[in-house]
Amino acid sequence: MSALKLAIIIGSVRDGRFGPVVADWFAAQVDDRFDVDVIDLAEFDLPAELPAVPPAMDPDPARPSGMVALSDRLAVADAYVVLTPEYNRSYPSALKTAIDWHFTQWDRKTIGFVGYSGGTGGVLAIEHLRQVFNELNAHTVRDYVSFPRYYLLFDEDGRLREPEGFEAAAKVMLDQLFWWATALAGARSAAASA
Ligand SMILES: Cc1cc2nc3c(=O)[nH]c(=O)nc-3n(C[C@H](O)[C@H](O)[C@H](O)COP(=O)(O)O)c2cc1C
Repeated sequence: MSALKLAIIIGSVRDGRFGPVVADWFAAQVDDRFDVDVIDLAEFDLPAELPAVPPAMDPDPARPSGMVALSDRLAVADAYVVLTPEYNRSYPSALKTAIDWHFTQWDRKTIGFVGYSGGTGGVLAIEHLRQVFNELNAHTVRDYVSFPRYYLLFDEDGRLREPEGFEAAAKVMLDQLFWWATALAGARSAAASA
């Protein structure tokens, strides 16, 4: 079987963000069961004004030209890992906008999370994201990676001072994603040819 496609989504877009450091670290944890595509939401147009018609009525609306490549890259992924900071006990609004502009892309796919922030390590953002992805008929895996007070955990070169526990957590999550992505890719394929 060819490698499954894993999209790693950088959920923060602000100047001075830490997200790309987390993305570099996580991408290095992924083994050859997956082909990785790192998707940086800062590279795309994400207008807050959503389509006039709800996705259940028009699942593939016309999108801004600056969003089309994002939509295409999300569509081909078998699994996603969303990297989320925590803003006021939730996840960034740019991430919600990117999610809401899409519908079929998330359908019957599996999703994992890496959170980072102050004391909570992004877990409140992760729990909010689980609710959103339930509505999109996606399966979020149980285990996640969390970096509480990430600024103490990474050094000035973006390397973890004590990586072992975080590497182990990433492996557990990747194993779960592989199981679900394999099962769901097979089920989608069978449904498409039925
Ligand atoms: C508007 C805002 C709200 C924040 N709220 C929280 C919070 O509720 N809990 C927390 O642990 N950290 C909070 N933080 C700290 C961020 O998690 C931290 O700044 C992190 O670096 C943000 O990720 P980013 O640099 O990739 O944007 C907040 C930061 C911002 C900018």
